[in-house]
Amino acid sequence: MLYIGIDLGTSAVKLLLMDSQGNICNIVSREYPLYFPHPGWSEQNPQDWYEQTMEGIRELLKDADKNQVAGISFGGQMHGLVILDEKDQVIRPAILWNDGRTTEECDYLNNVIGKDKLSEYTANISFTGFTAPKILWVKKNEPENFARIKKIMLPKDYIAYRLTGVHCTDVSDASGMLLFDVKNRCWSKEMCEICGVREEQLATCYESYEKVGCVLPEVADELGLPHNVVVAAGAGDNAAAAVGTGTVGDNMCNISLGTSGTIFISSDHFGVDQNNALHSFAHADGHYHLMGCMLSAASCNKWWMDEIIGTKDYAAEQAQISKLGENHVYFLPYLMGERSPHNDPNARGTFIGMTMDTSRADMTQAVLEGVAFALRDSLEVAKSLGIHLERTKICGGGAKSPLWKKMIANILNLKVDVIESEEGPAMGGAMLAAVACGEYASVEEIAEKFVKVTGTVEPDPELVAKYEDRYQKFRQIYPACRPLFEIIK
Ligand code: XUL
Repeated sequence: MLYIGIDLGTSAVKLLLMDSQGNICNIVSREYPLYFPHPGWSEQNPQDWYEQTMEGIRELLKDADKNQVAGISFGGQMHGLVILDEKDQVIRPAILWNDGRTTEECDYLNNVIGKDKLSEYTANISFTGFTAPKILWVKKNEPENFARIKKIMLPKDYIAYRLTGVHCTDVSDASGMLLFDVKNRCWSKEMCEICGVREEQLATCYESYEKVGCVLPEVADELGLPHNVVVAAGAGDNAAAAVGTGTVGDNMCNISLGTSGTIFISSDHFGVDQNNALHSFAHADGHYHLMGCMLSAASCNKWWMDEIIGTKDYAAEQAQISKLGENHVYFLPYLMGERSPHNDPNARGTFIGMTMDTSRADMTQAVLEGVAFALRDSLEVAKSLGIHLERTKICGGGAKSPLWKKMIANILNLKVDVIESEEGPAMGGAMLAAVACGEYASVEEIAEKFVKVTGTVEPDPELVAKYEDRYQKFRQIYPACRPLFEIIK
C-alpha cells in the first residue's frame, strides 16, 4: 500500500509518498505566498494551500499506481486561525503562527484572566501566535467577521475538511489553540467562555493516528484516487516531525530547524514548567510533550544570506567559518519577536560585538550560533524541570548543514543523531496514515520499524567548554536589550 504525508508549511507544502515498509517513493514541494500586510502581521490564503496541495498530490502520484494509495495524513503549521462562514467559505485570510498583532489580547489573557487560570485550564499561557488571542483580536477589530464565524479551523484541518467534508482536528494541533484542556485531551469550557466561542464552532478532536473520514468521491475522481482512501487526523508540524524522526515514548528529543526552530521533548506523562516558558502539548503518539519554539531559526540564516549579503550559496559562506567557539560577535535571532522562553513580541534581531577586524564569516557564524544559543535557552528550562537528555534527533532545512549540526551538538552538549530521512513532518504524516489504516498497531511500533539513525555528531569536550563560556555571555544580552526593544518598537 501507499501513504501520502502532507506537510503544510509556511513557505510551501511538501508532499511525500511512502510505501508500507517506510521507503520514500517520491517527494514534491509547491510554494505559496506569505503576506505581511502590516509590520509584525503574517497571513496566508487557505485557498492557496488547497490549490497547491491538490496540484502537489497530482505531481506526487504522476508515476505511481494510484489504486495502491490507502491513506493520507498531515503535519501542519500550527496555531493559524482559519474562520469559515455558514457556507464553509473562508471569511478572511488565515492569521499565522508567527503573527504578532495580538499583544493587547495576550496581556488581557495573561494579566486580567491570569496566567494561573490559563495554565489550569489549558496547561499553557498566552503567546501572540496562539489561536485564542487571535479570536479575541477578530472579535474586537473585525466584529462583522466575528459574527459570521461558523467554524474555527487550524491550517492543516482546513485541507482535511476540503478533502473529506469533515470538520476535524487532532490533539497535538488543538493544544496550540489555548482553547484545549491538554491534560484531559478535550476542549476547555472555561476558555471557550472567556473567548466568546461556542463549542460547536470548534472541530471534532481526534487522536493524530485516528481516521476522520475518506476522501470525498468528487475529490477522489479529480485526483484519480480510489473511493476508499482514508484520511487520518494528523498532527501539528512539530509533533508530526517527532513521529517522522522517531521522537515518541518517554524522554526523546527532536530539534527542528525550519522557518521556526523547536526543541521537542516527548514524555509519557503530562507536565508543565513553573513559568509555562515551554509549551505543554499533547503528542501524536497518544502521550504528551514539552516544546520550546523560536519564531525565526533557519529563516534567520535565509534572511542573512538572501537579503543582506545577497548569495544563494550557503555552503560556500559556511566553508569560510573556522573559529568555532571563538567568535566575539553575537546575534540575537529575534527577527519576528520571540516566543520561547522570552515571550516578547517586541524583541528584535541584534548583532553585538563587532570590531574593525570582524569578517563576513564571523557575522554568518554569529547568526548560526545565535539560533543554537536560543535553542539552548529552552533546553535550560527543560533541565530546570529535572529533564536530562543525552541525545537529540534533528530535522528541517537547517539540518542539512553539517556545520550547524556541529554547533548544535556542542552548544547544547547533546549527541545529535542523524537519521536516514530528514523529511520530519511529511514522513510523520504518512506514518500516521499507515497507523490509521491498521497497517501498524501504534505510532511507537511504526517509528521503531521505520526510523534509522545513520550517524551521530558527538560533542567535543573542548569545544563544549568554549561554547559554555560563550553561552553564559549570550544569555546576558537579551535582558540588557529588553528595555531598548520597548523604546524602539
Ligand atoms: C510551534 C510553532 C511553529 C509552527 C511552524 O508552536 O508555532 O513551529 O508550527 O510551522
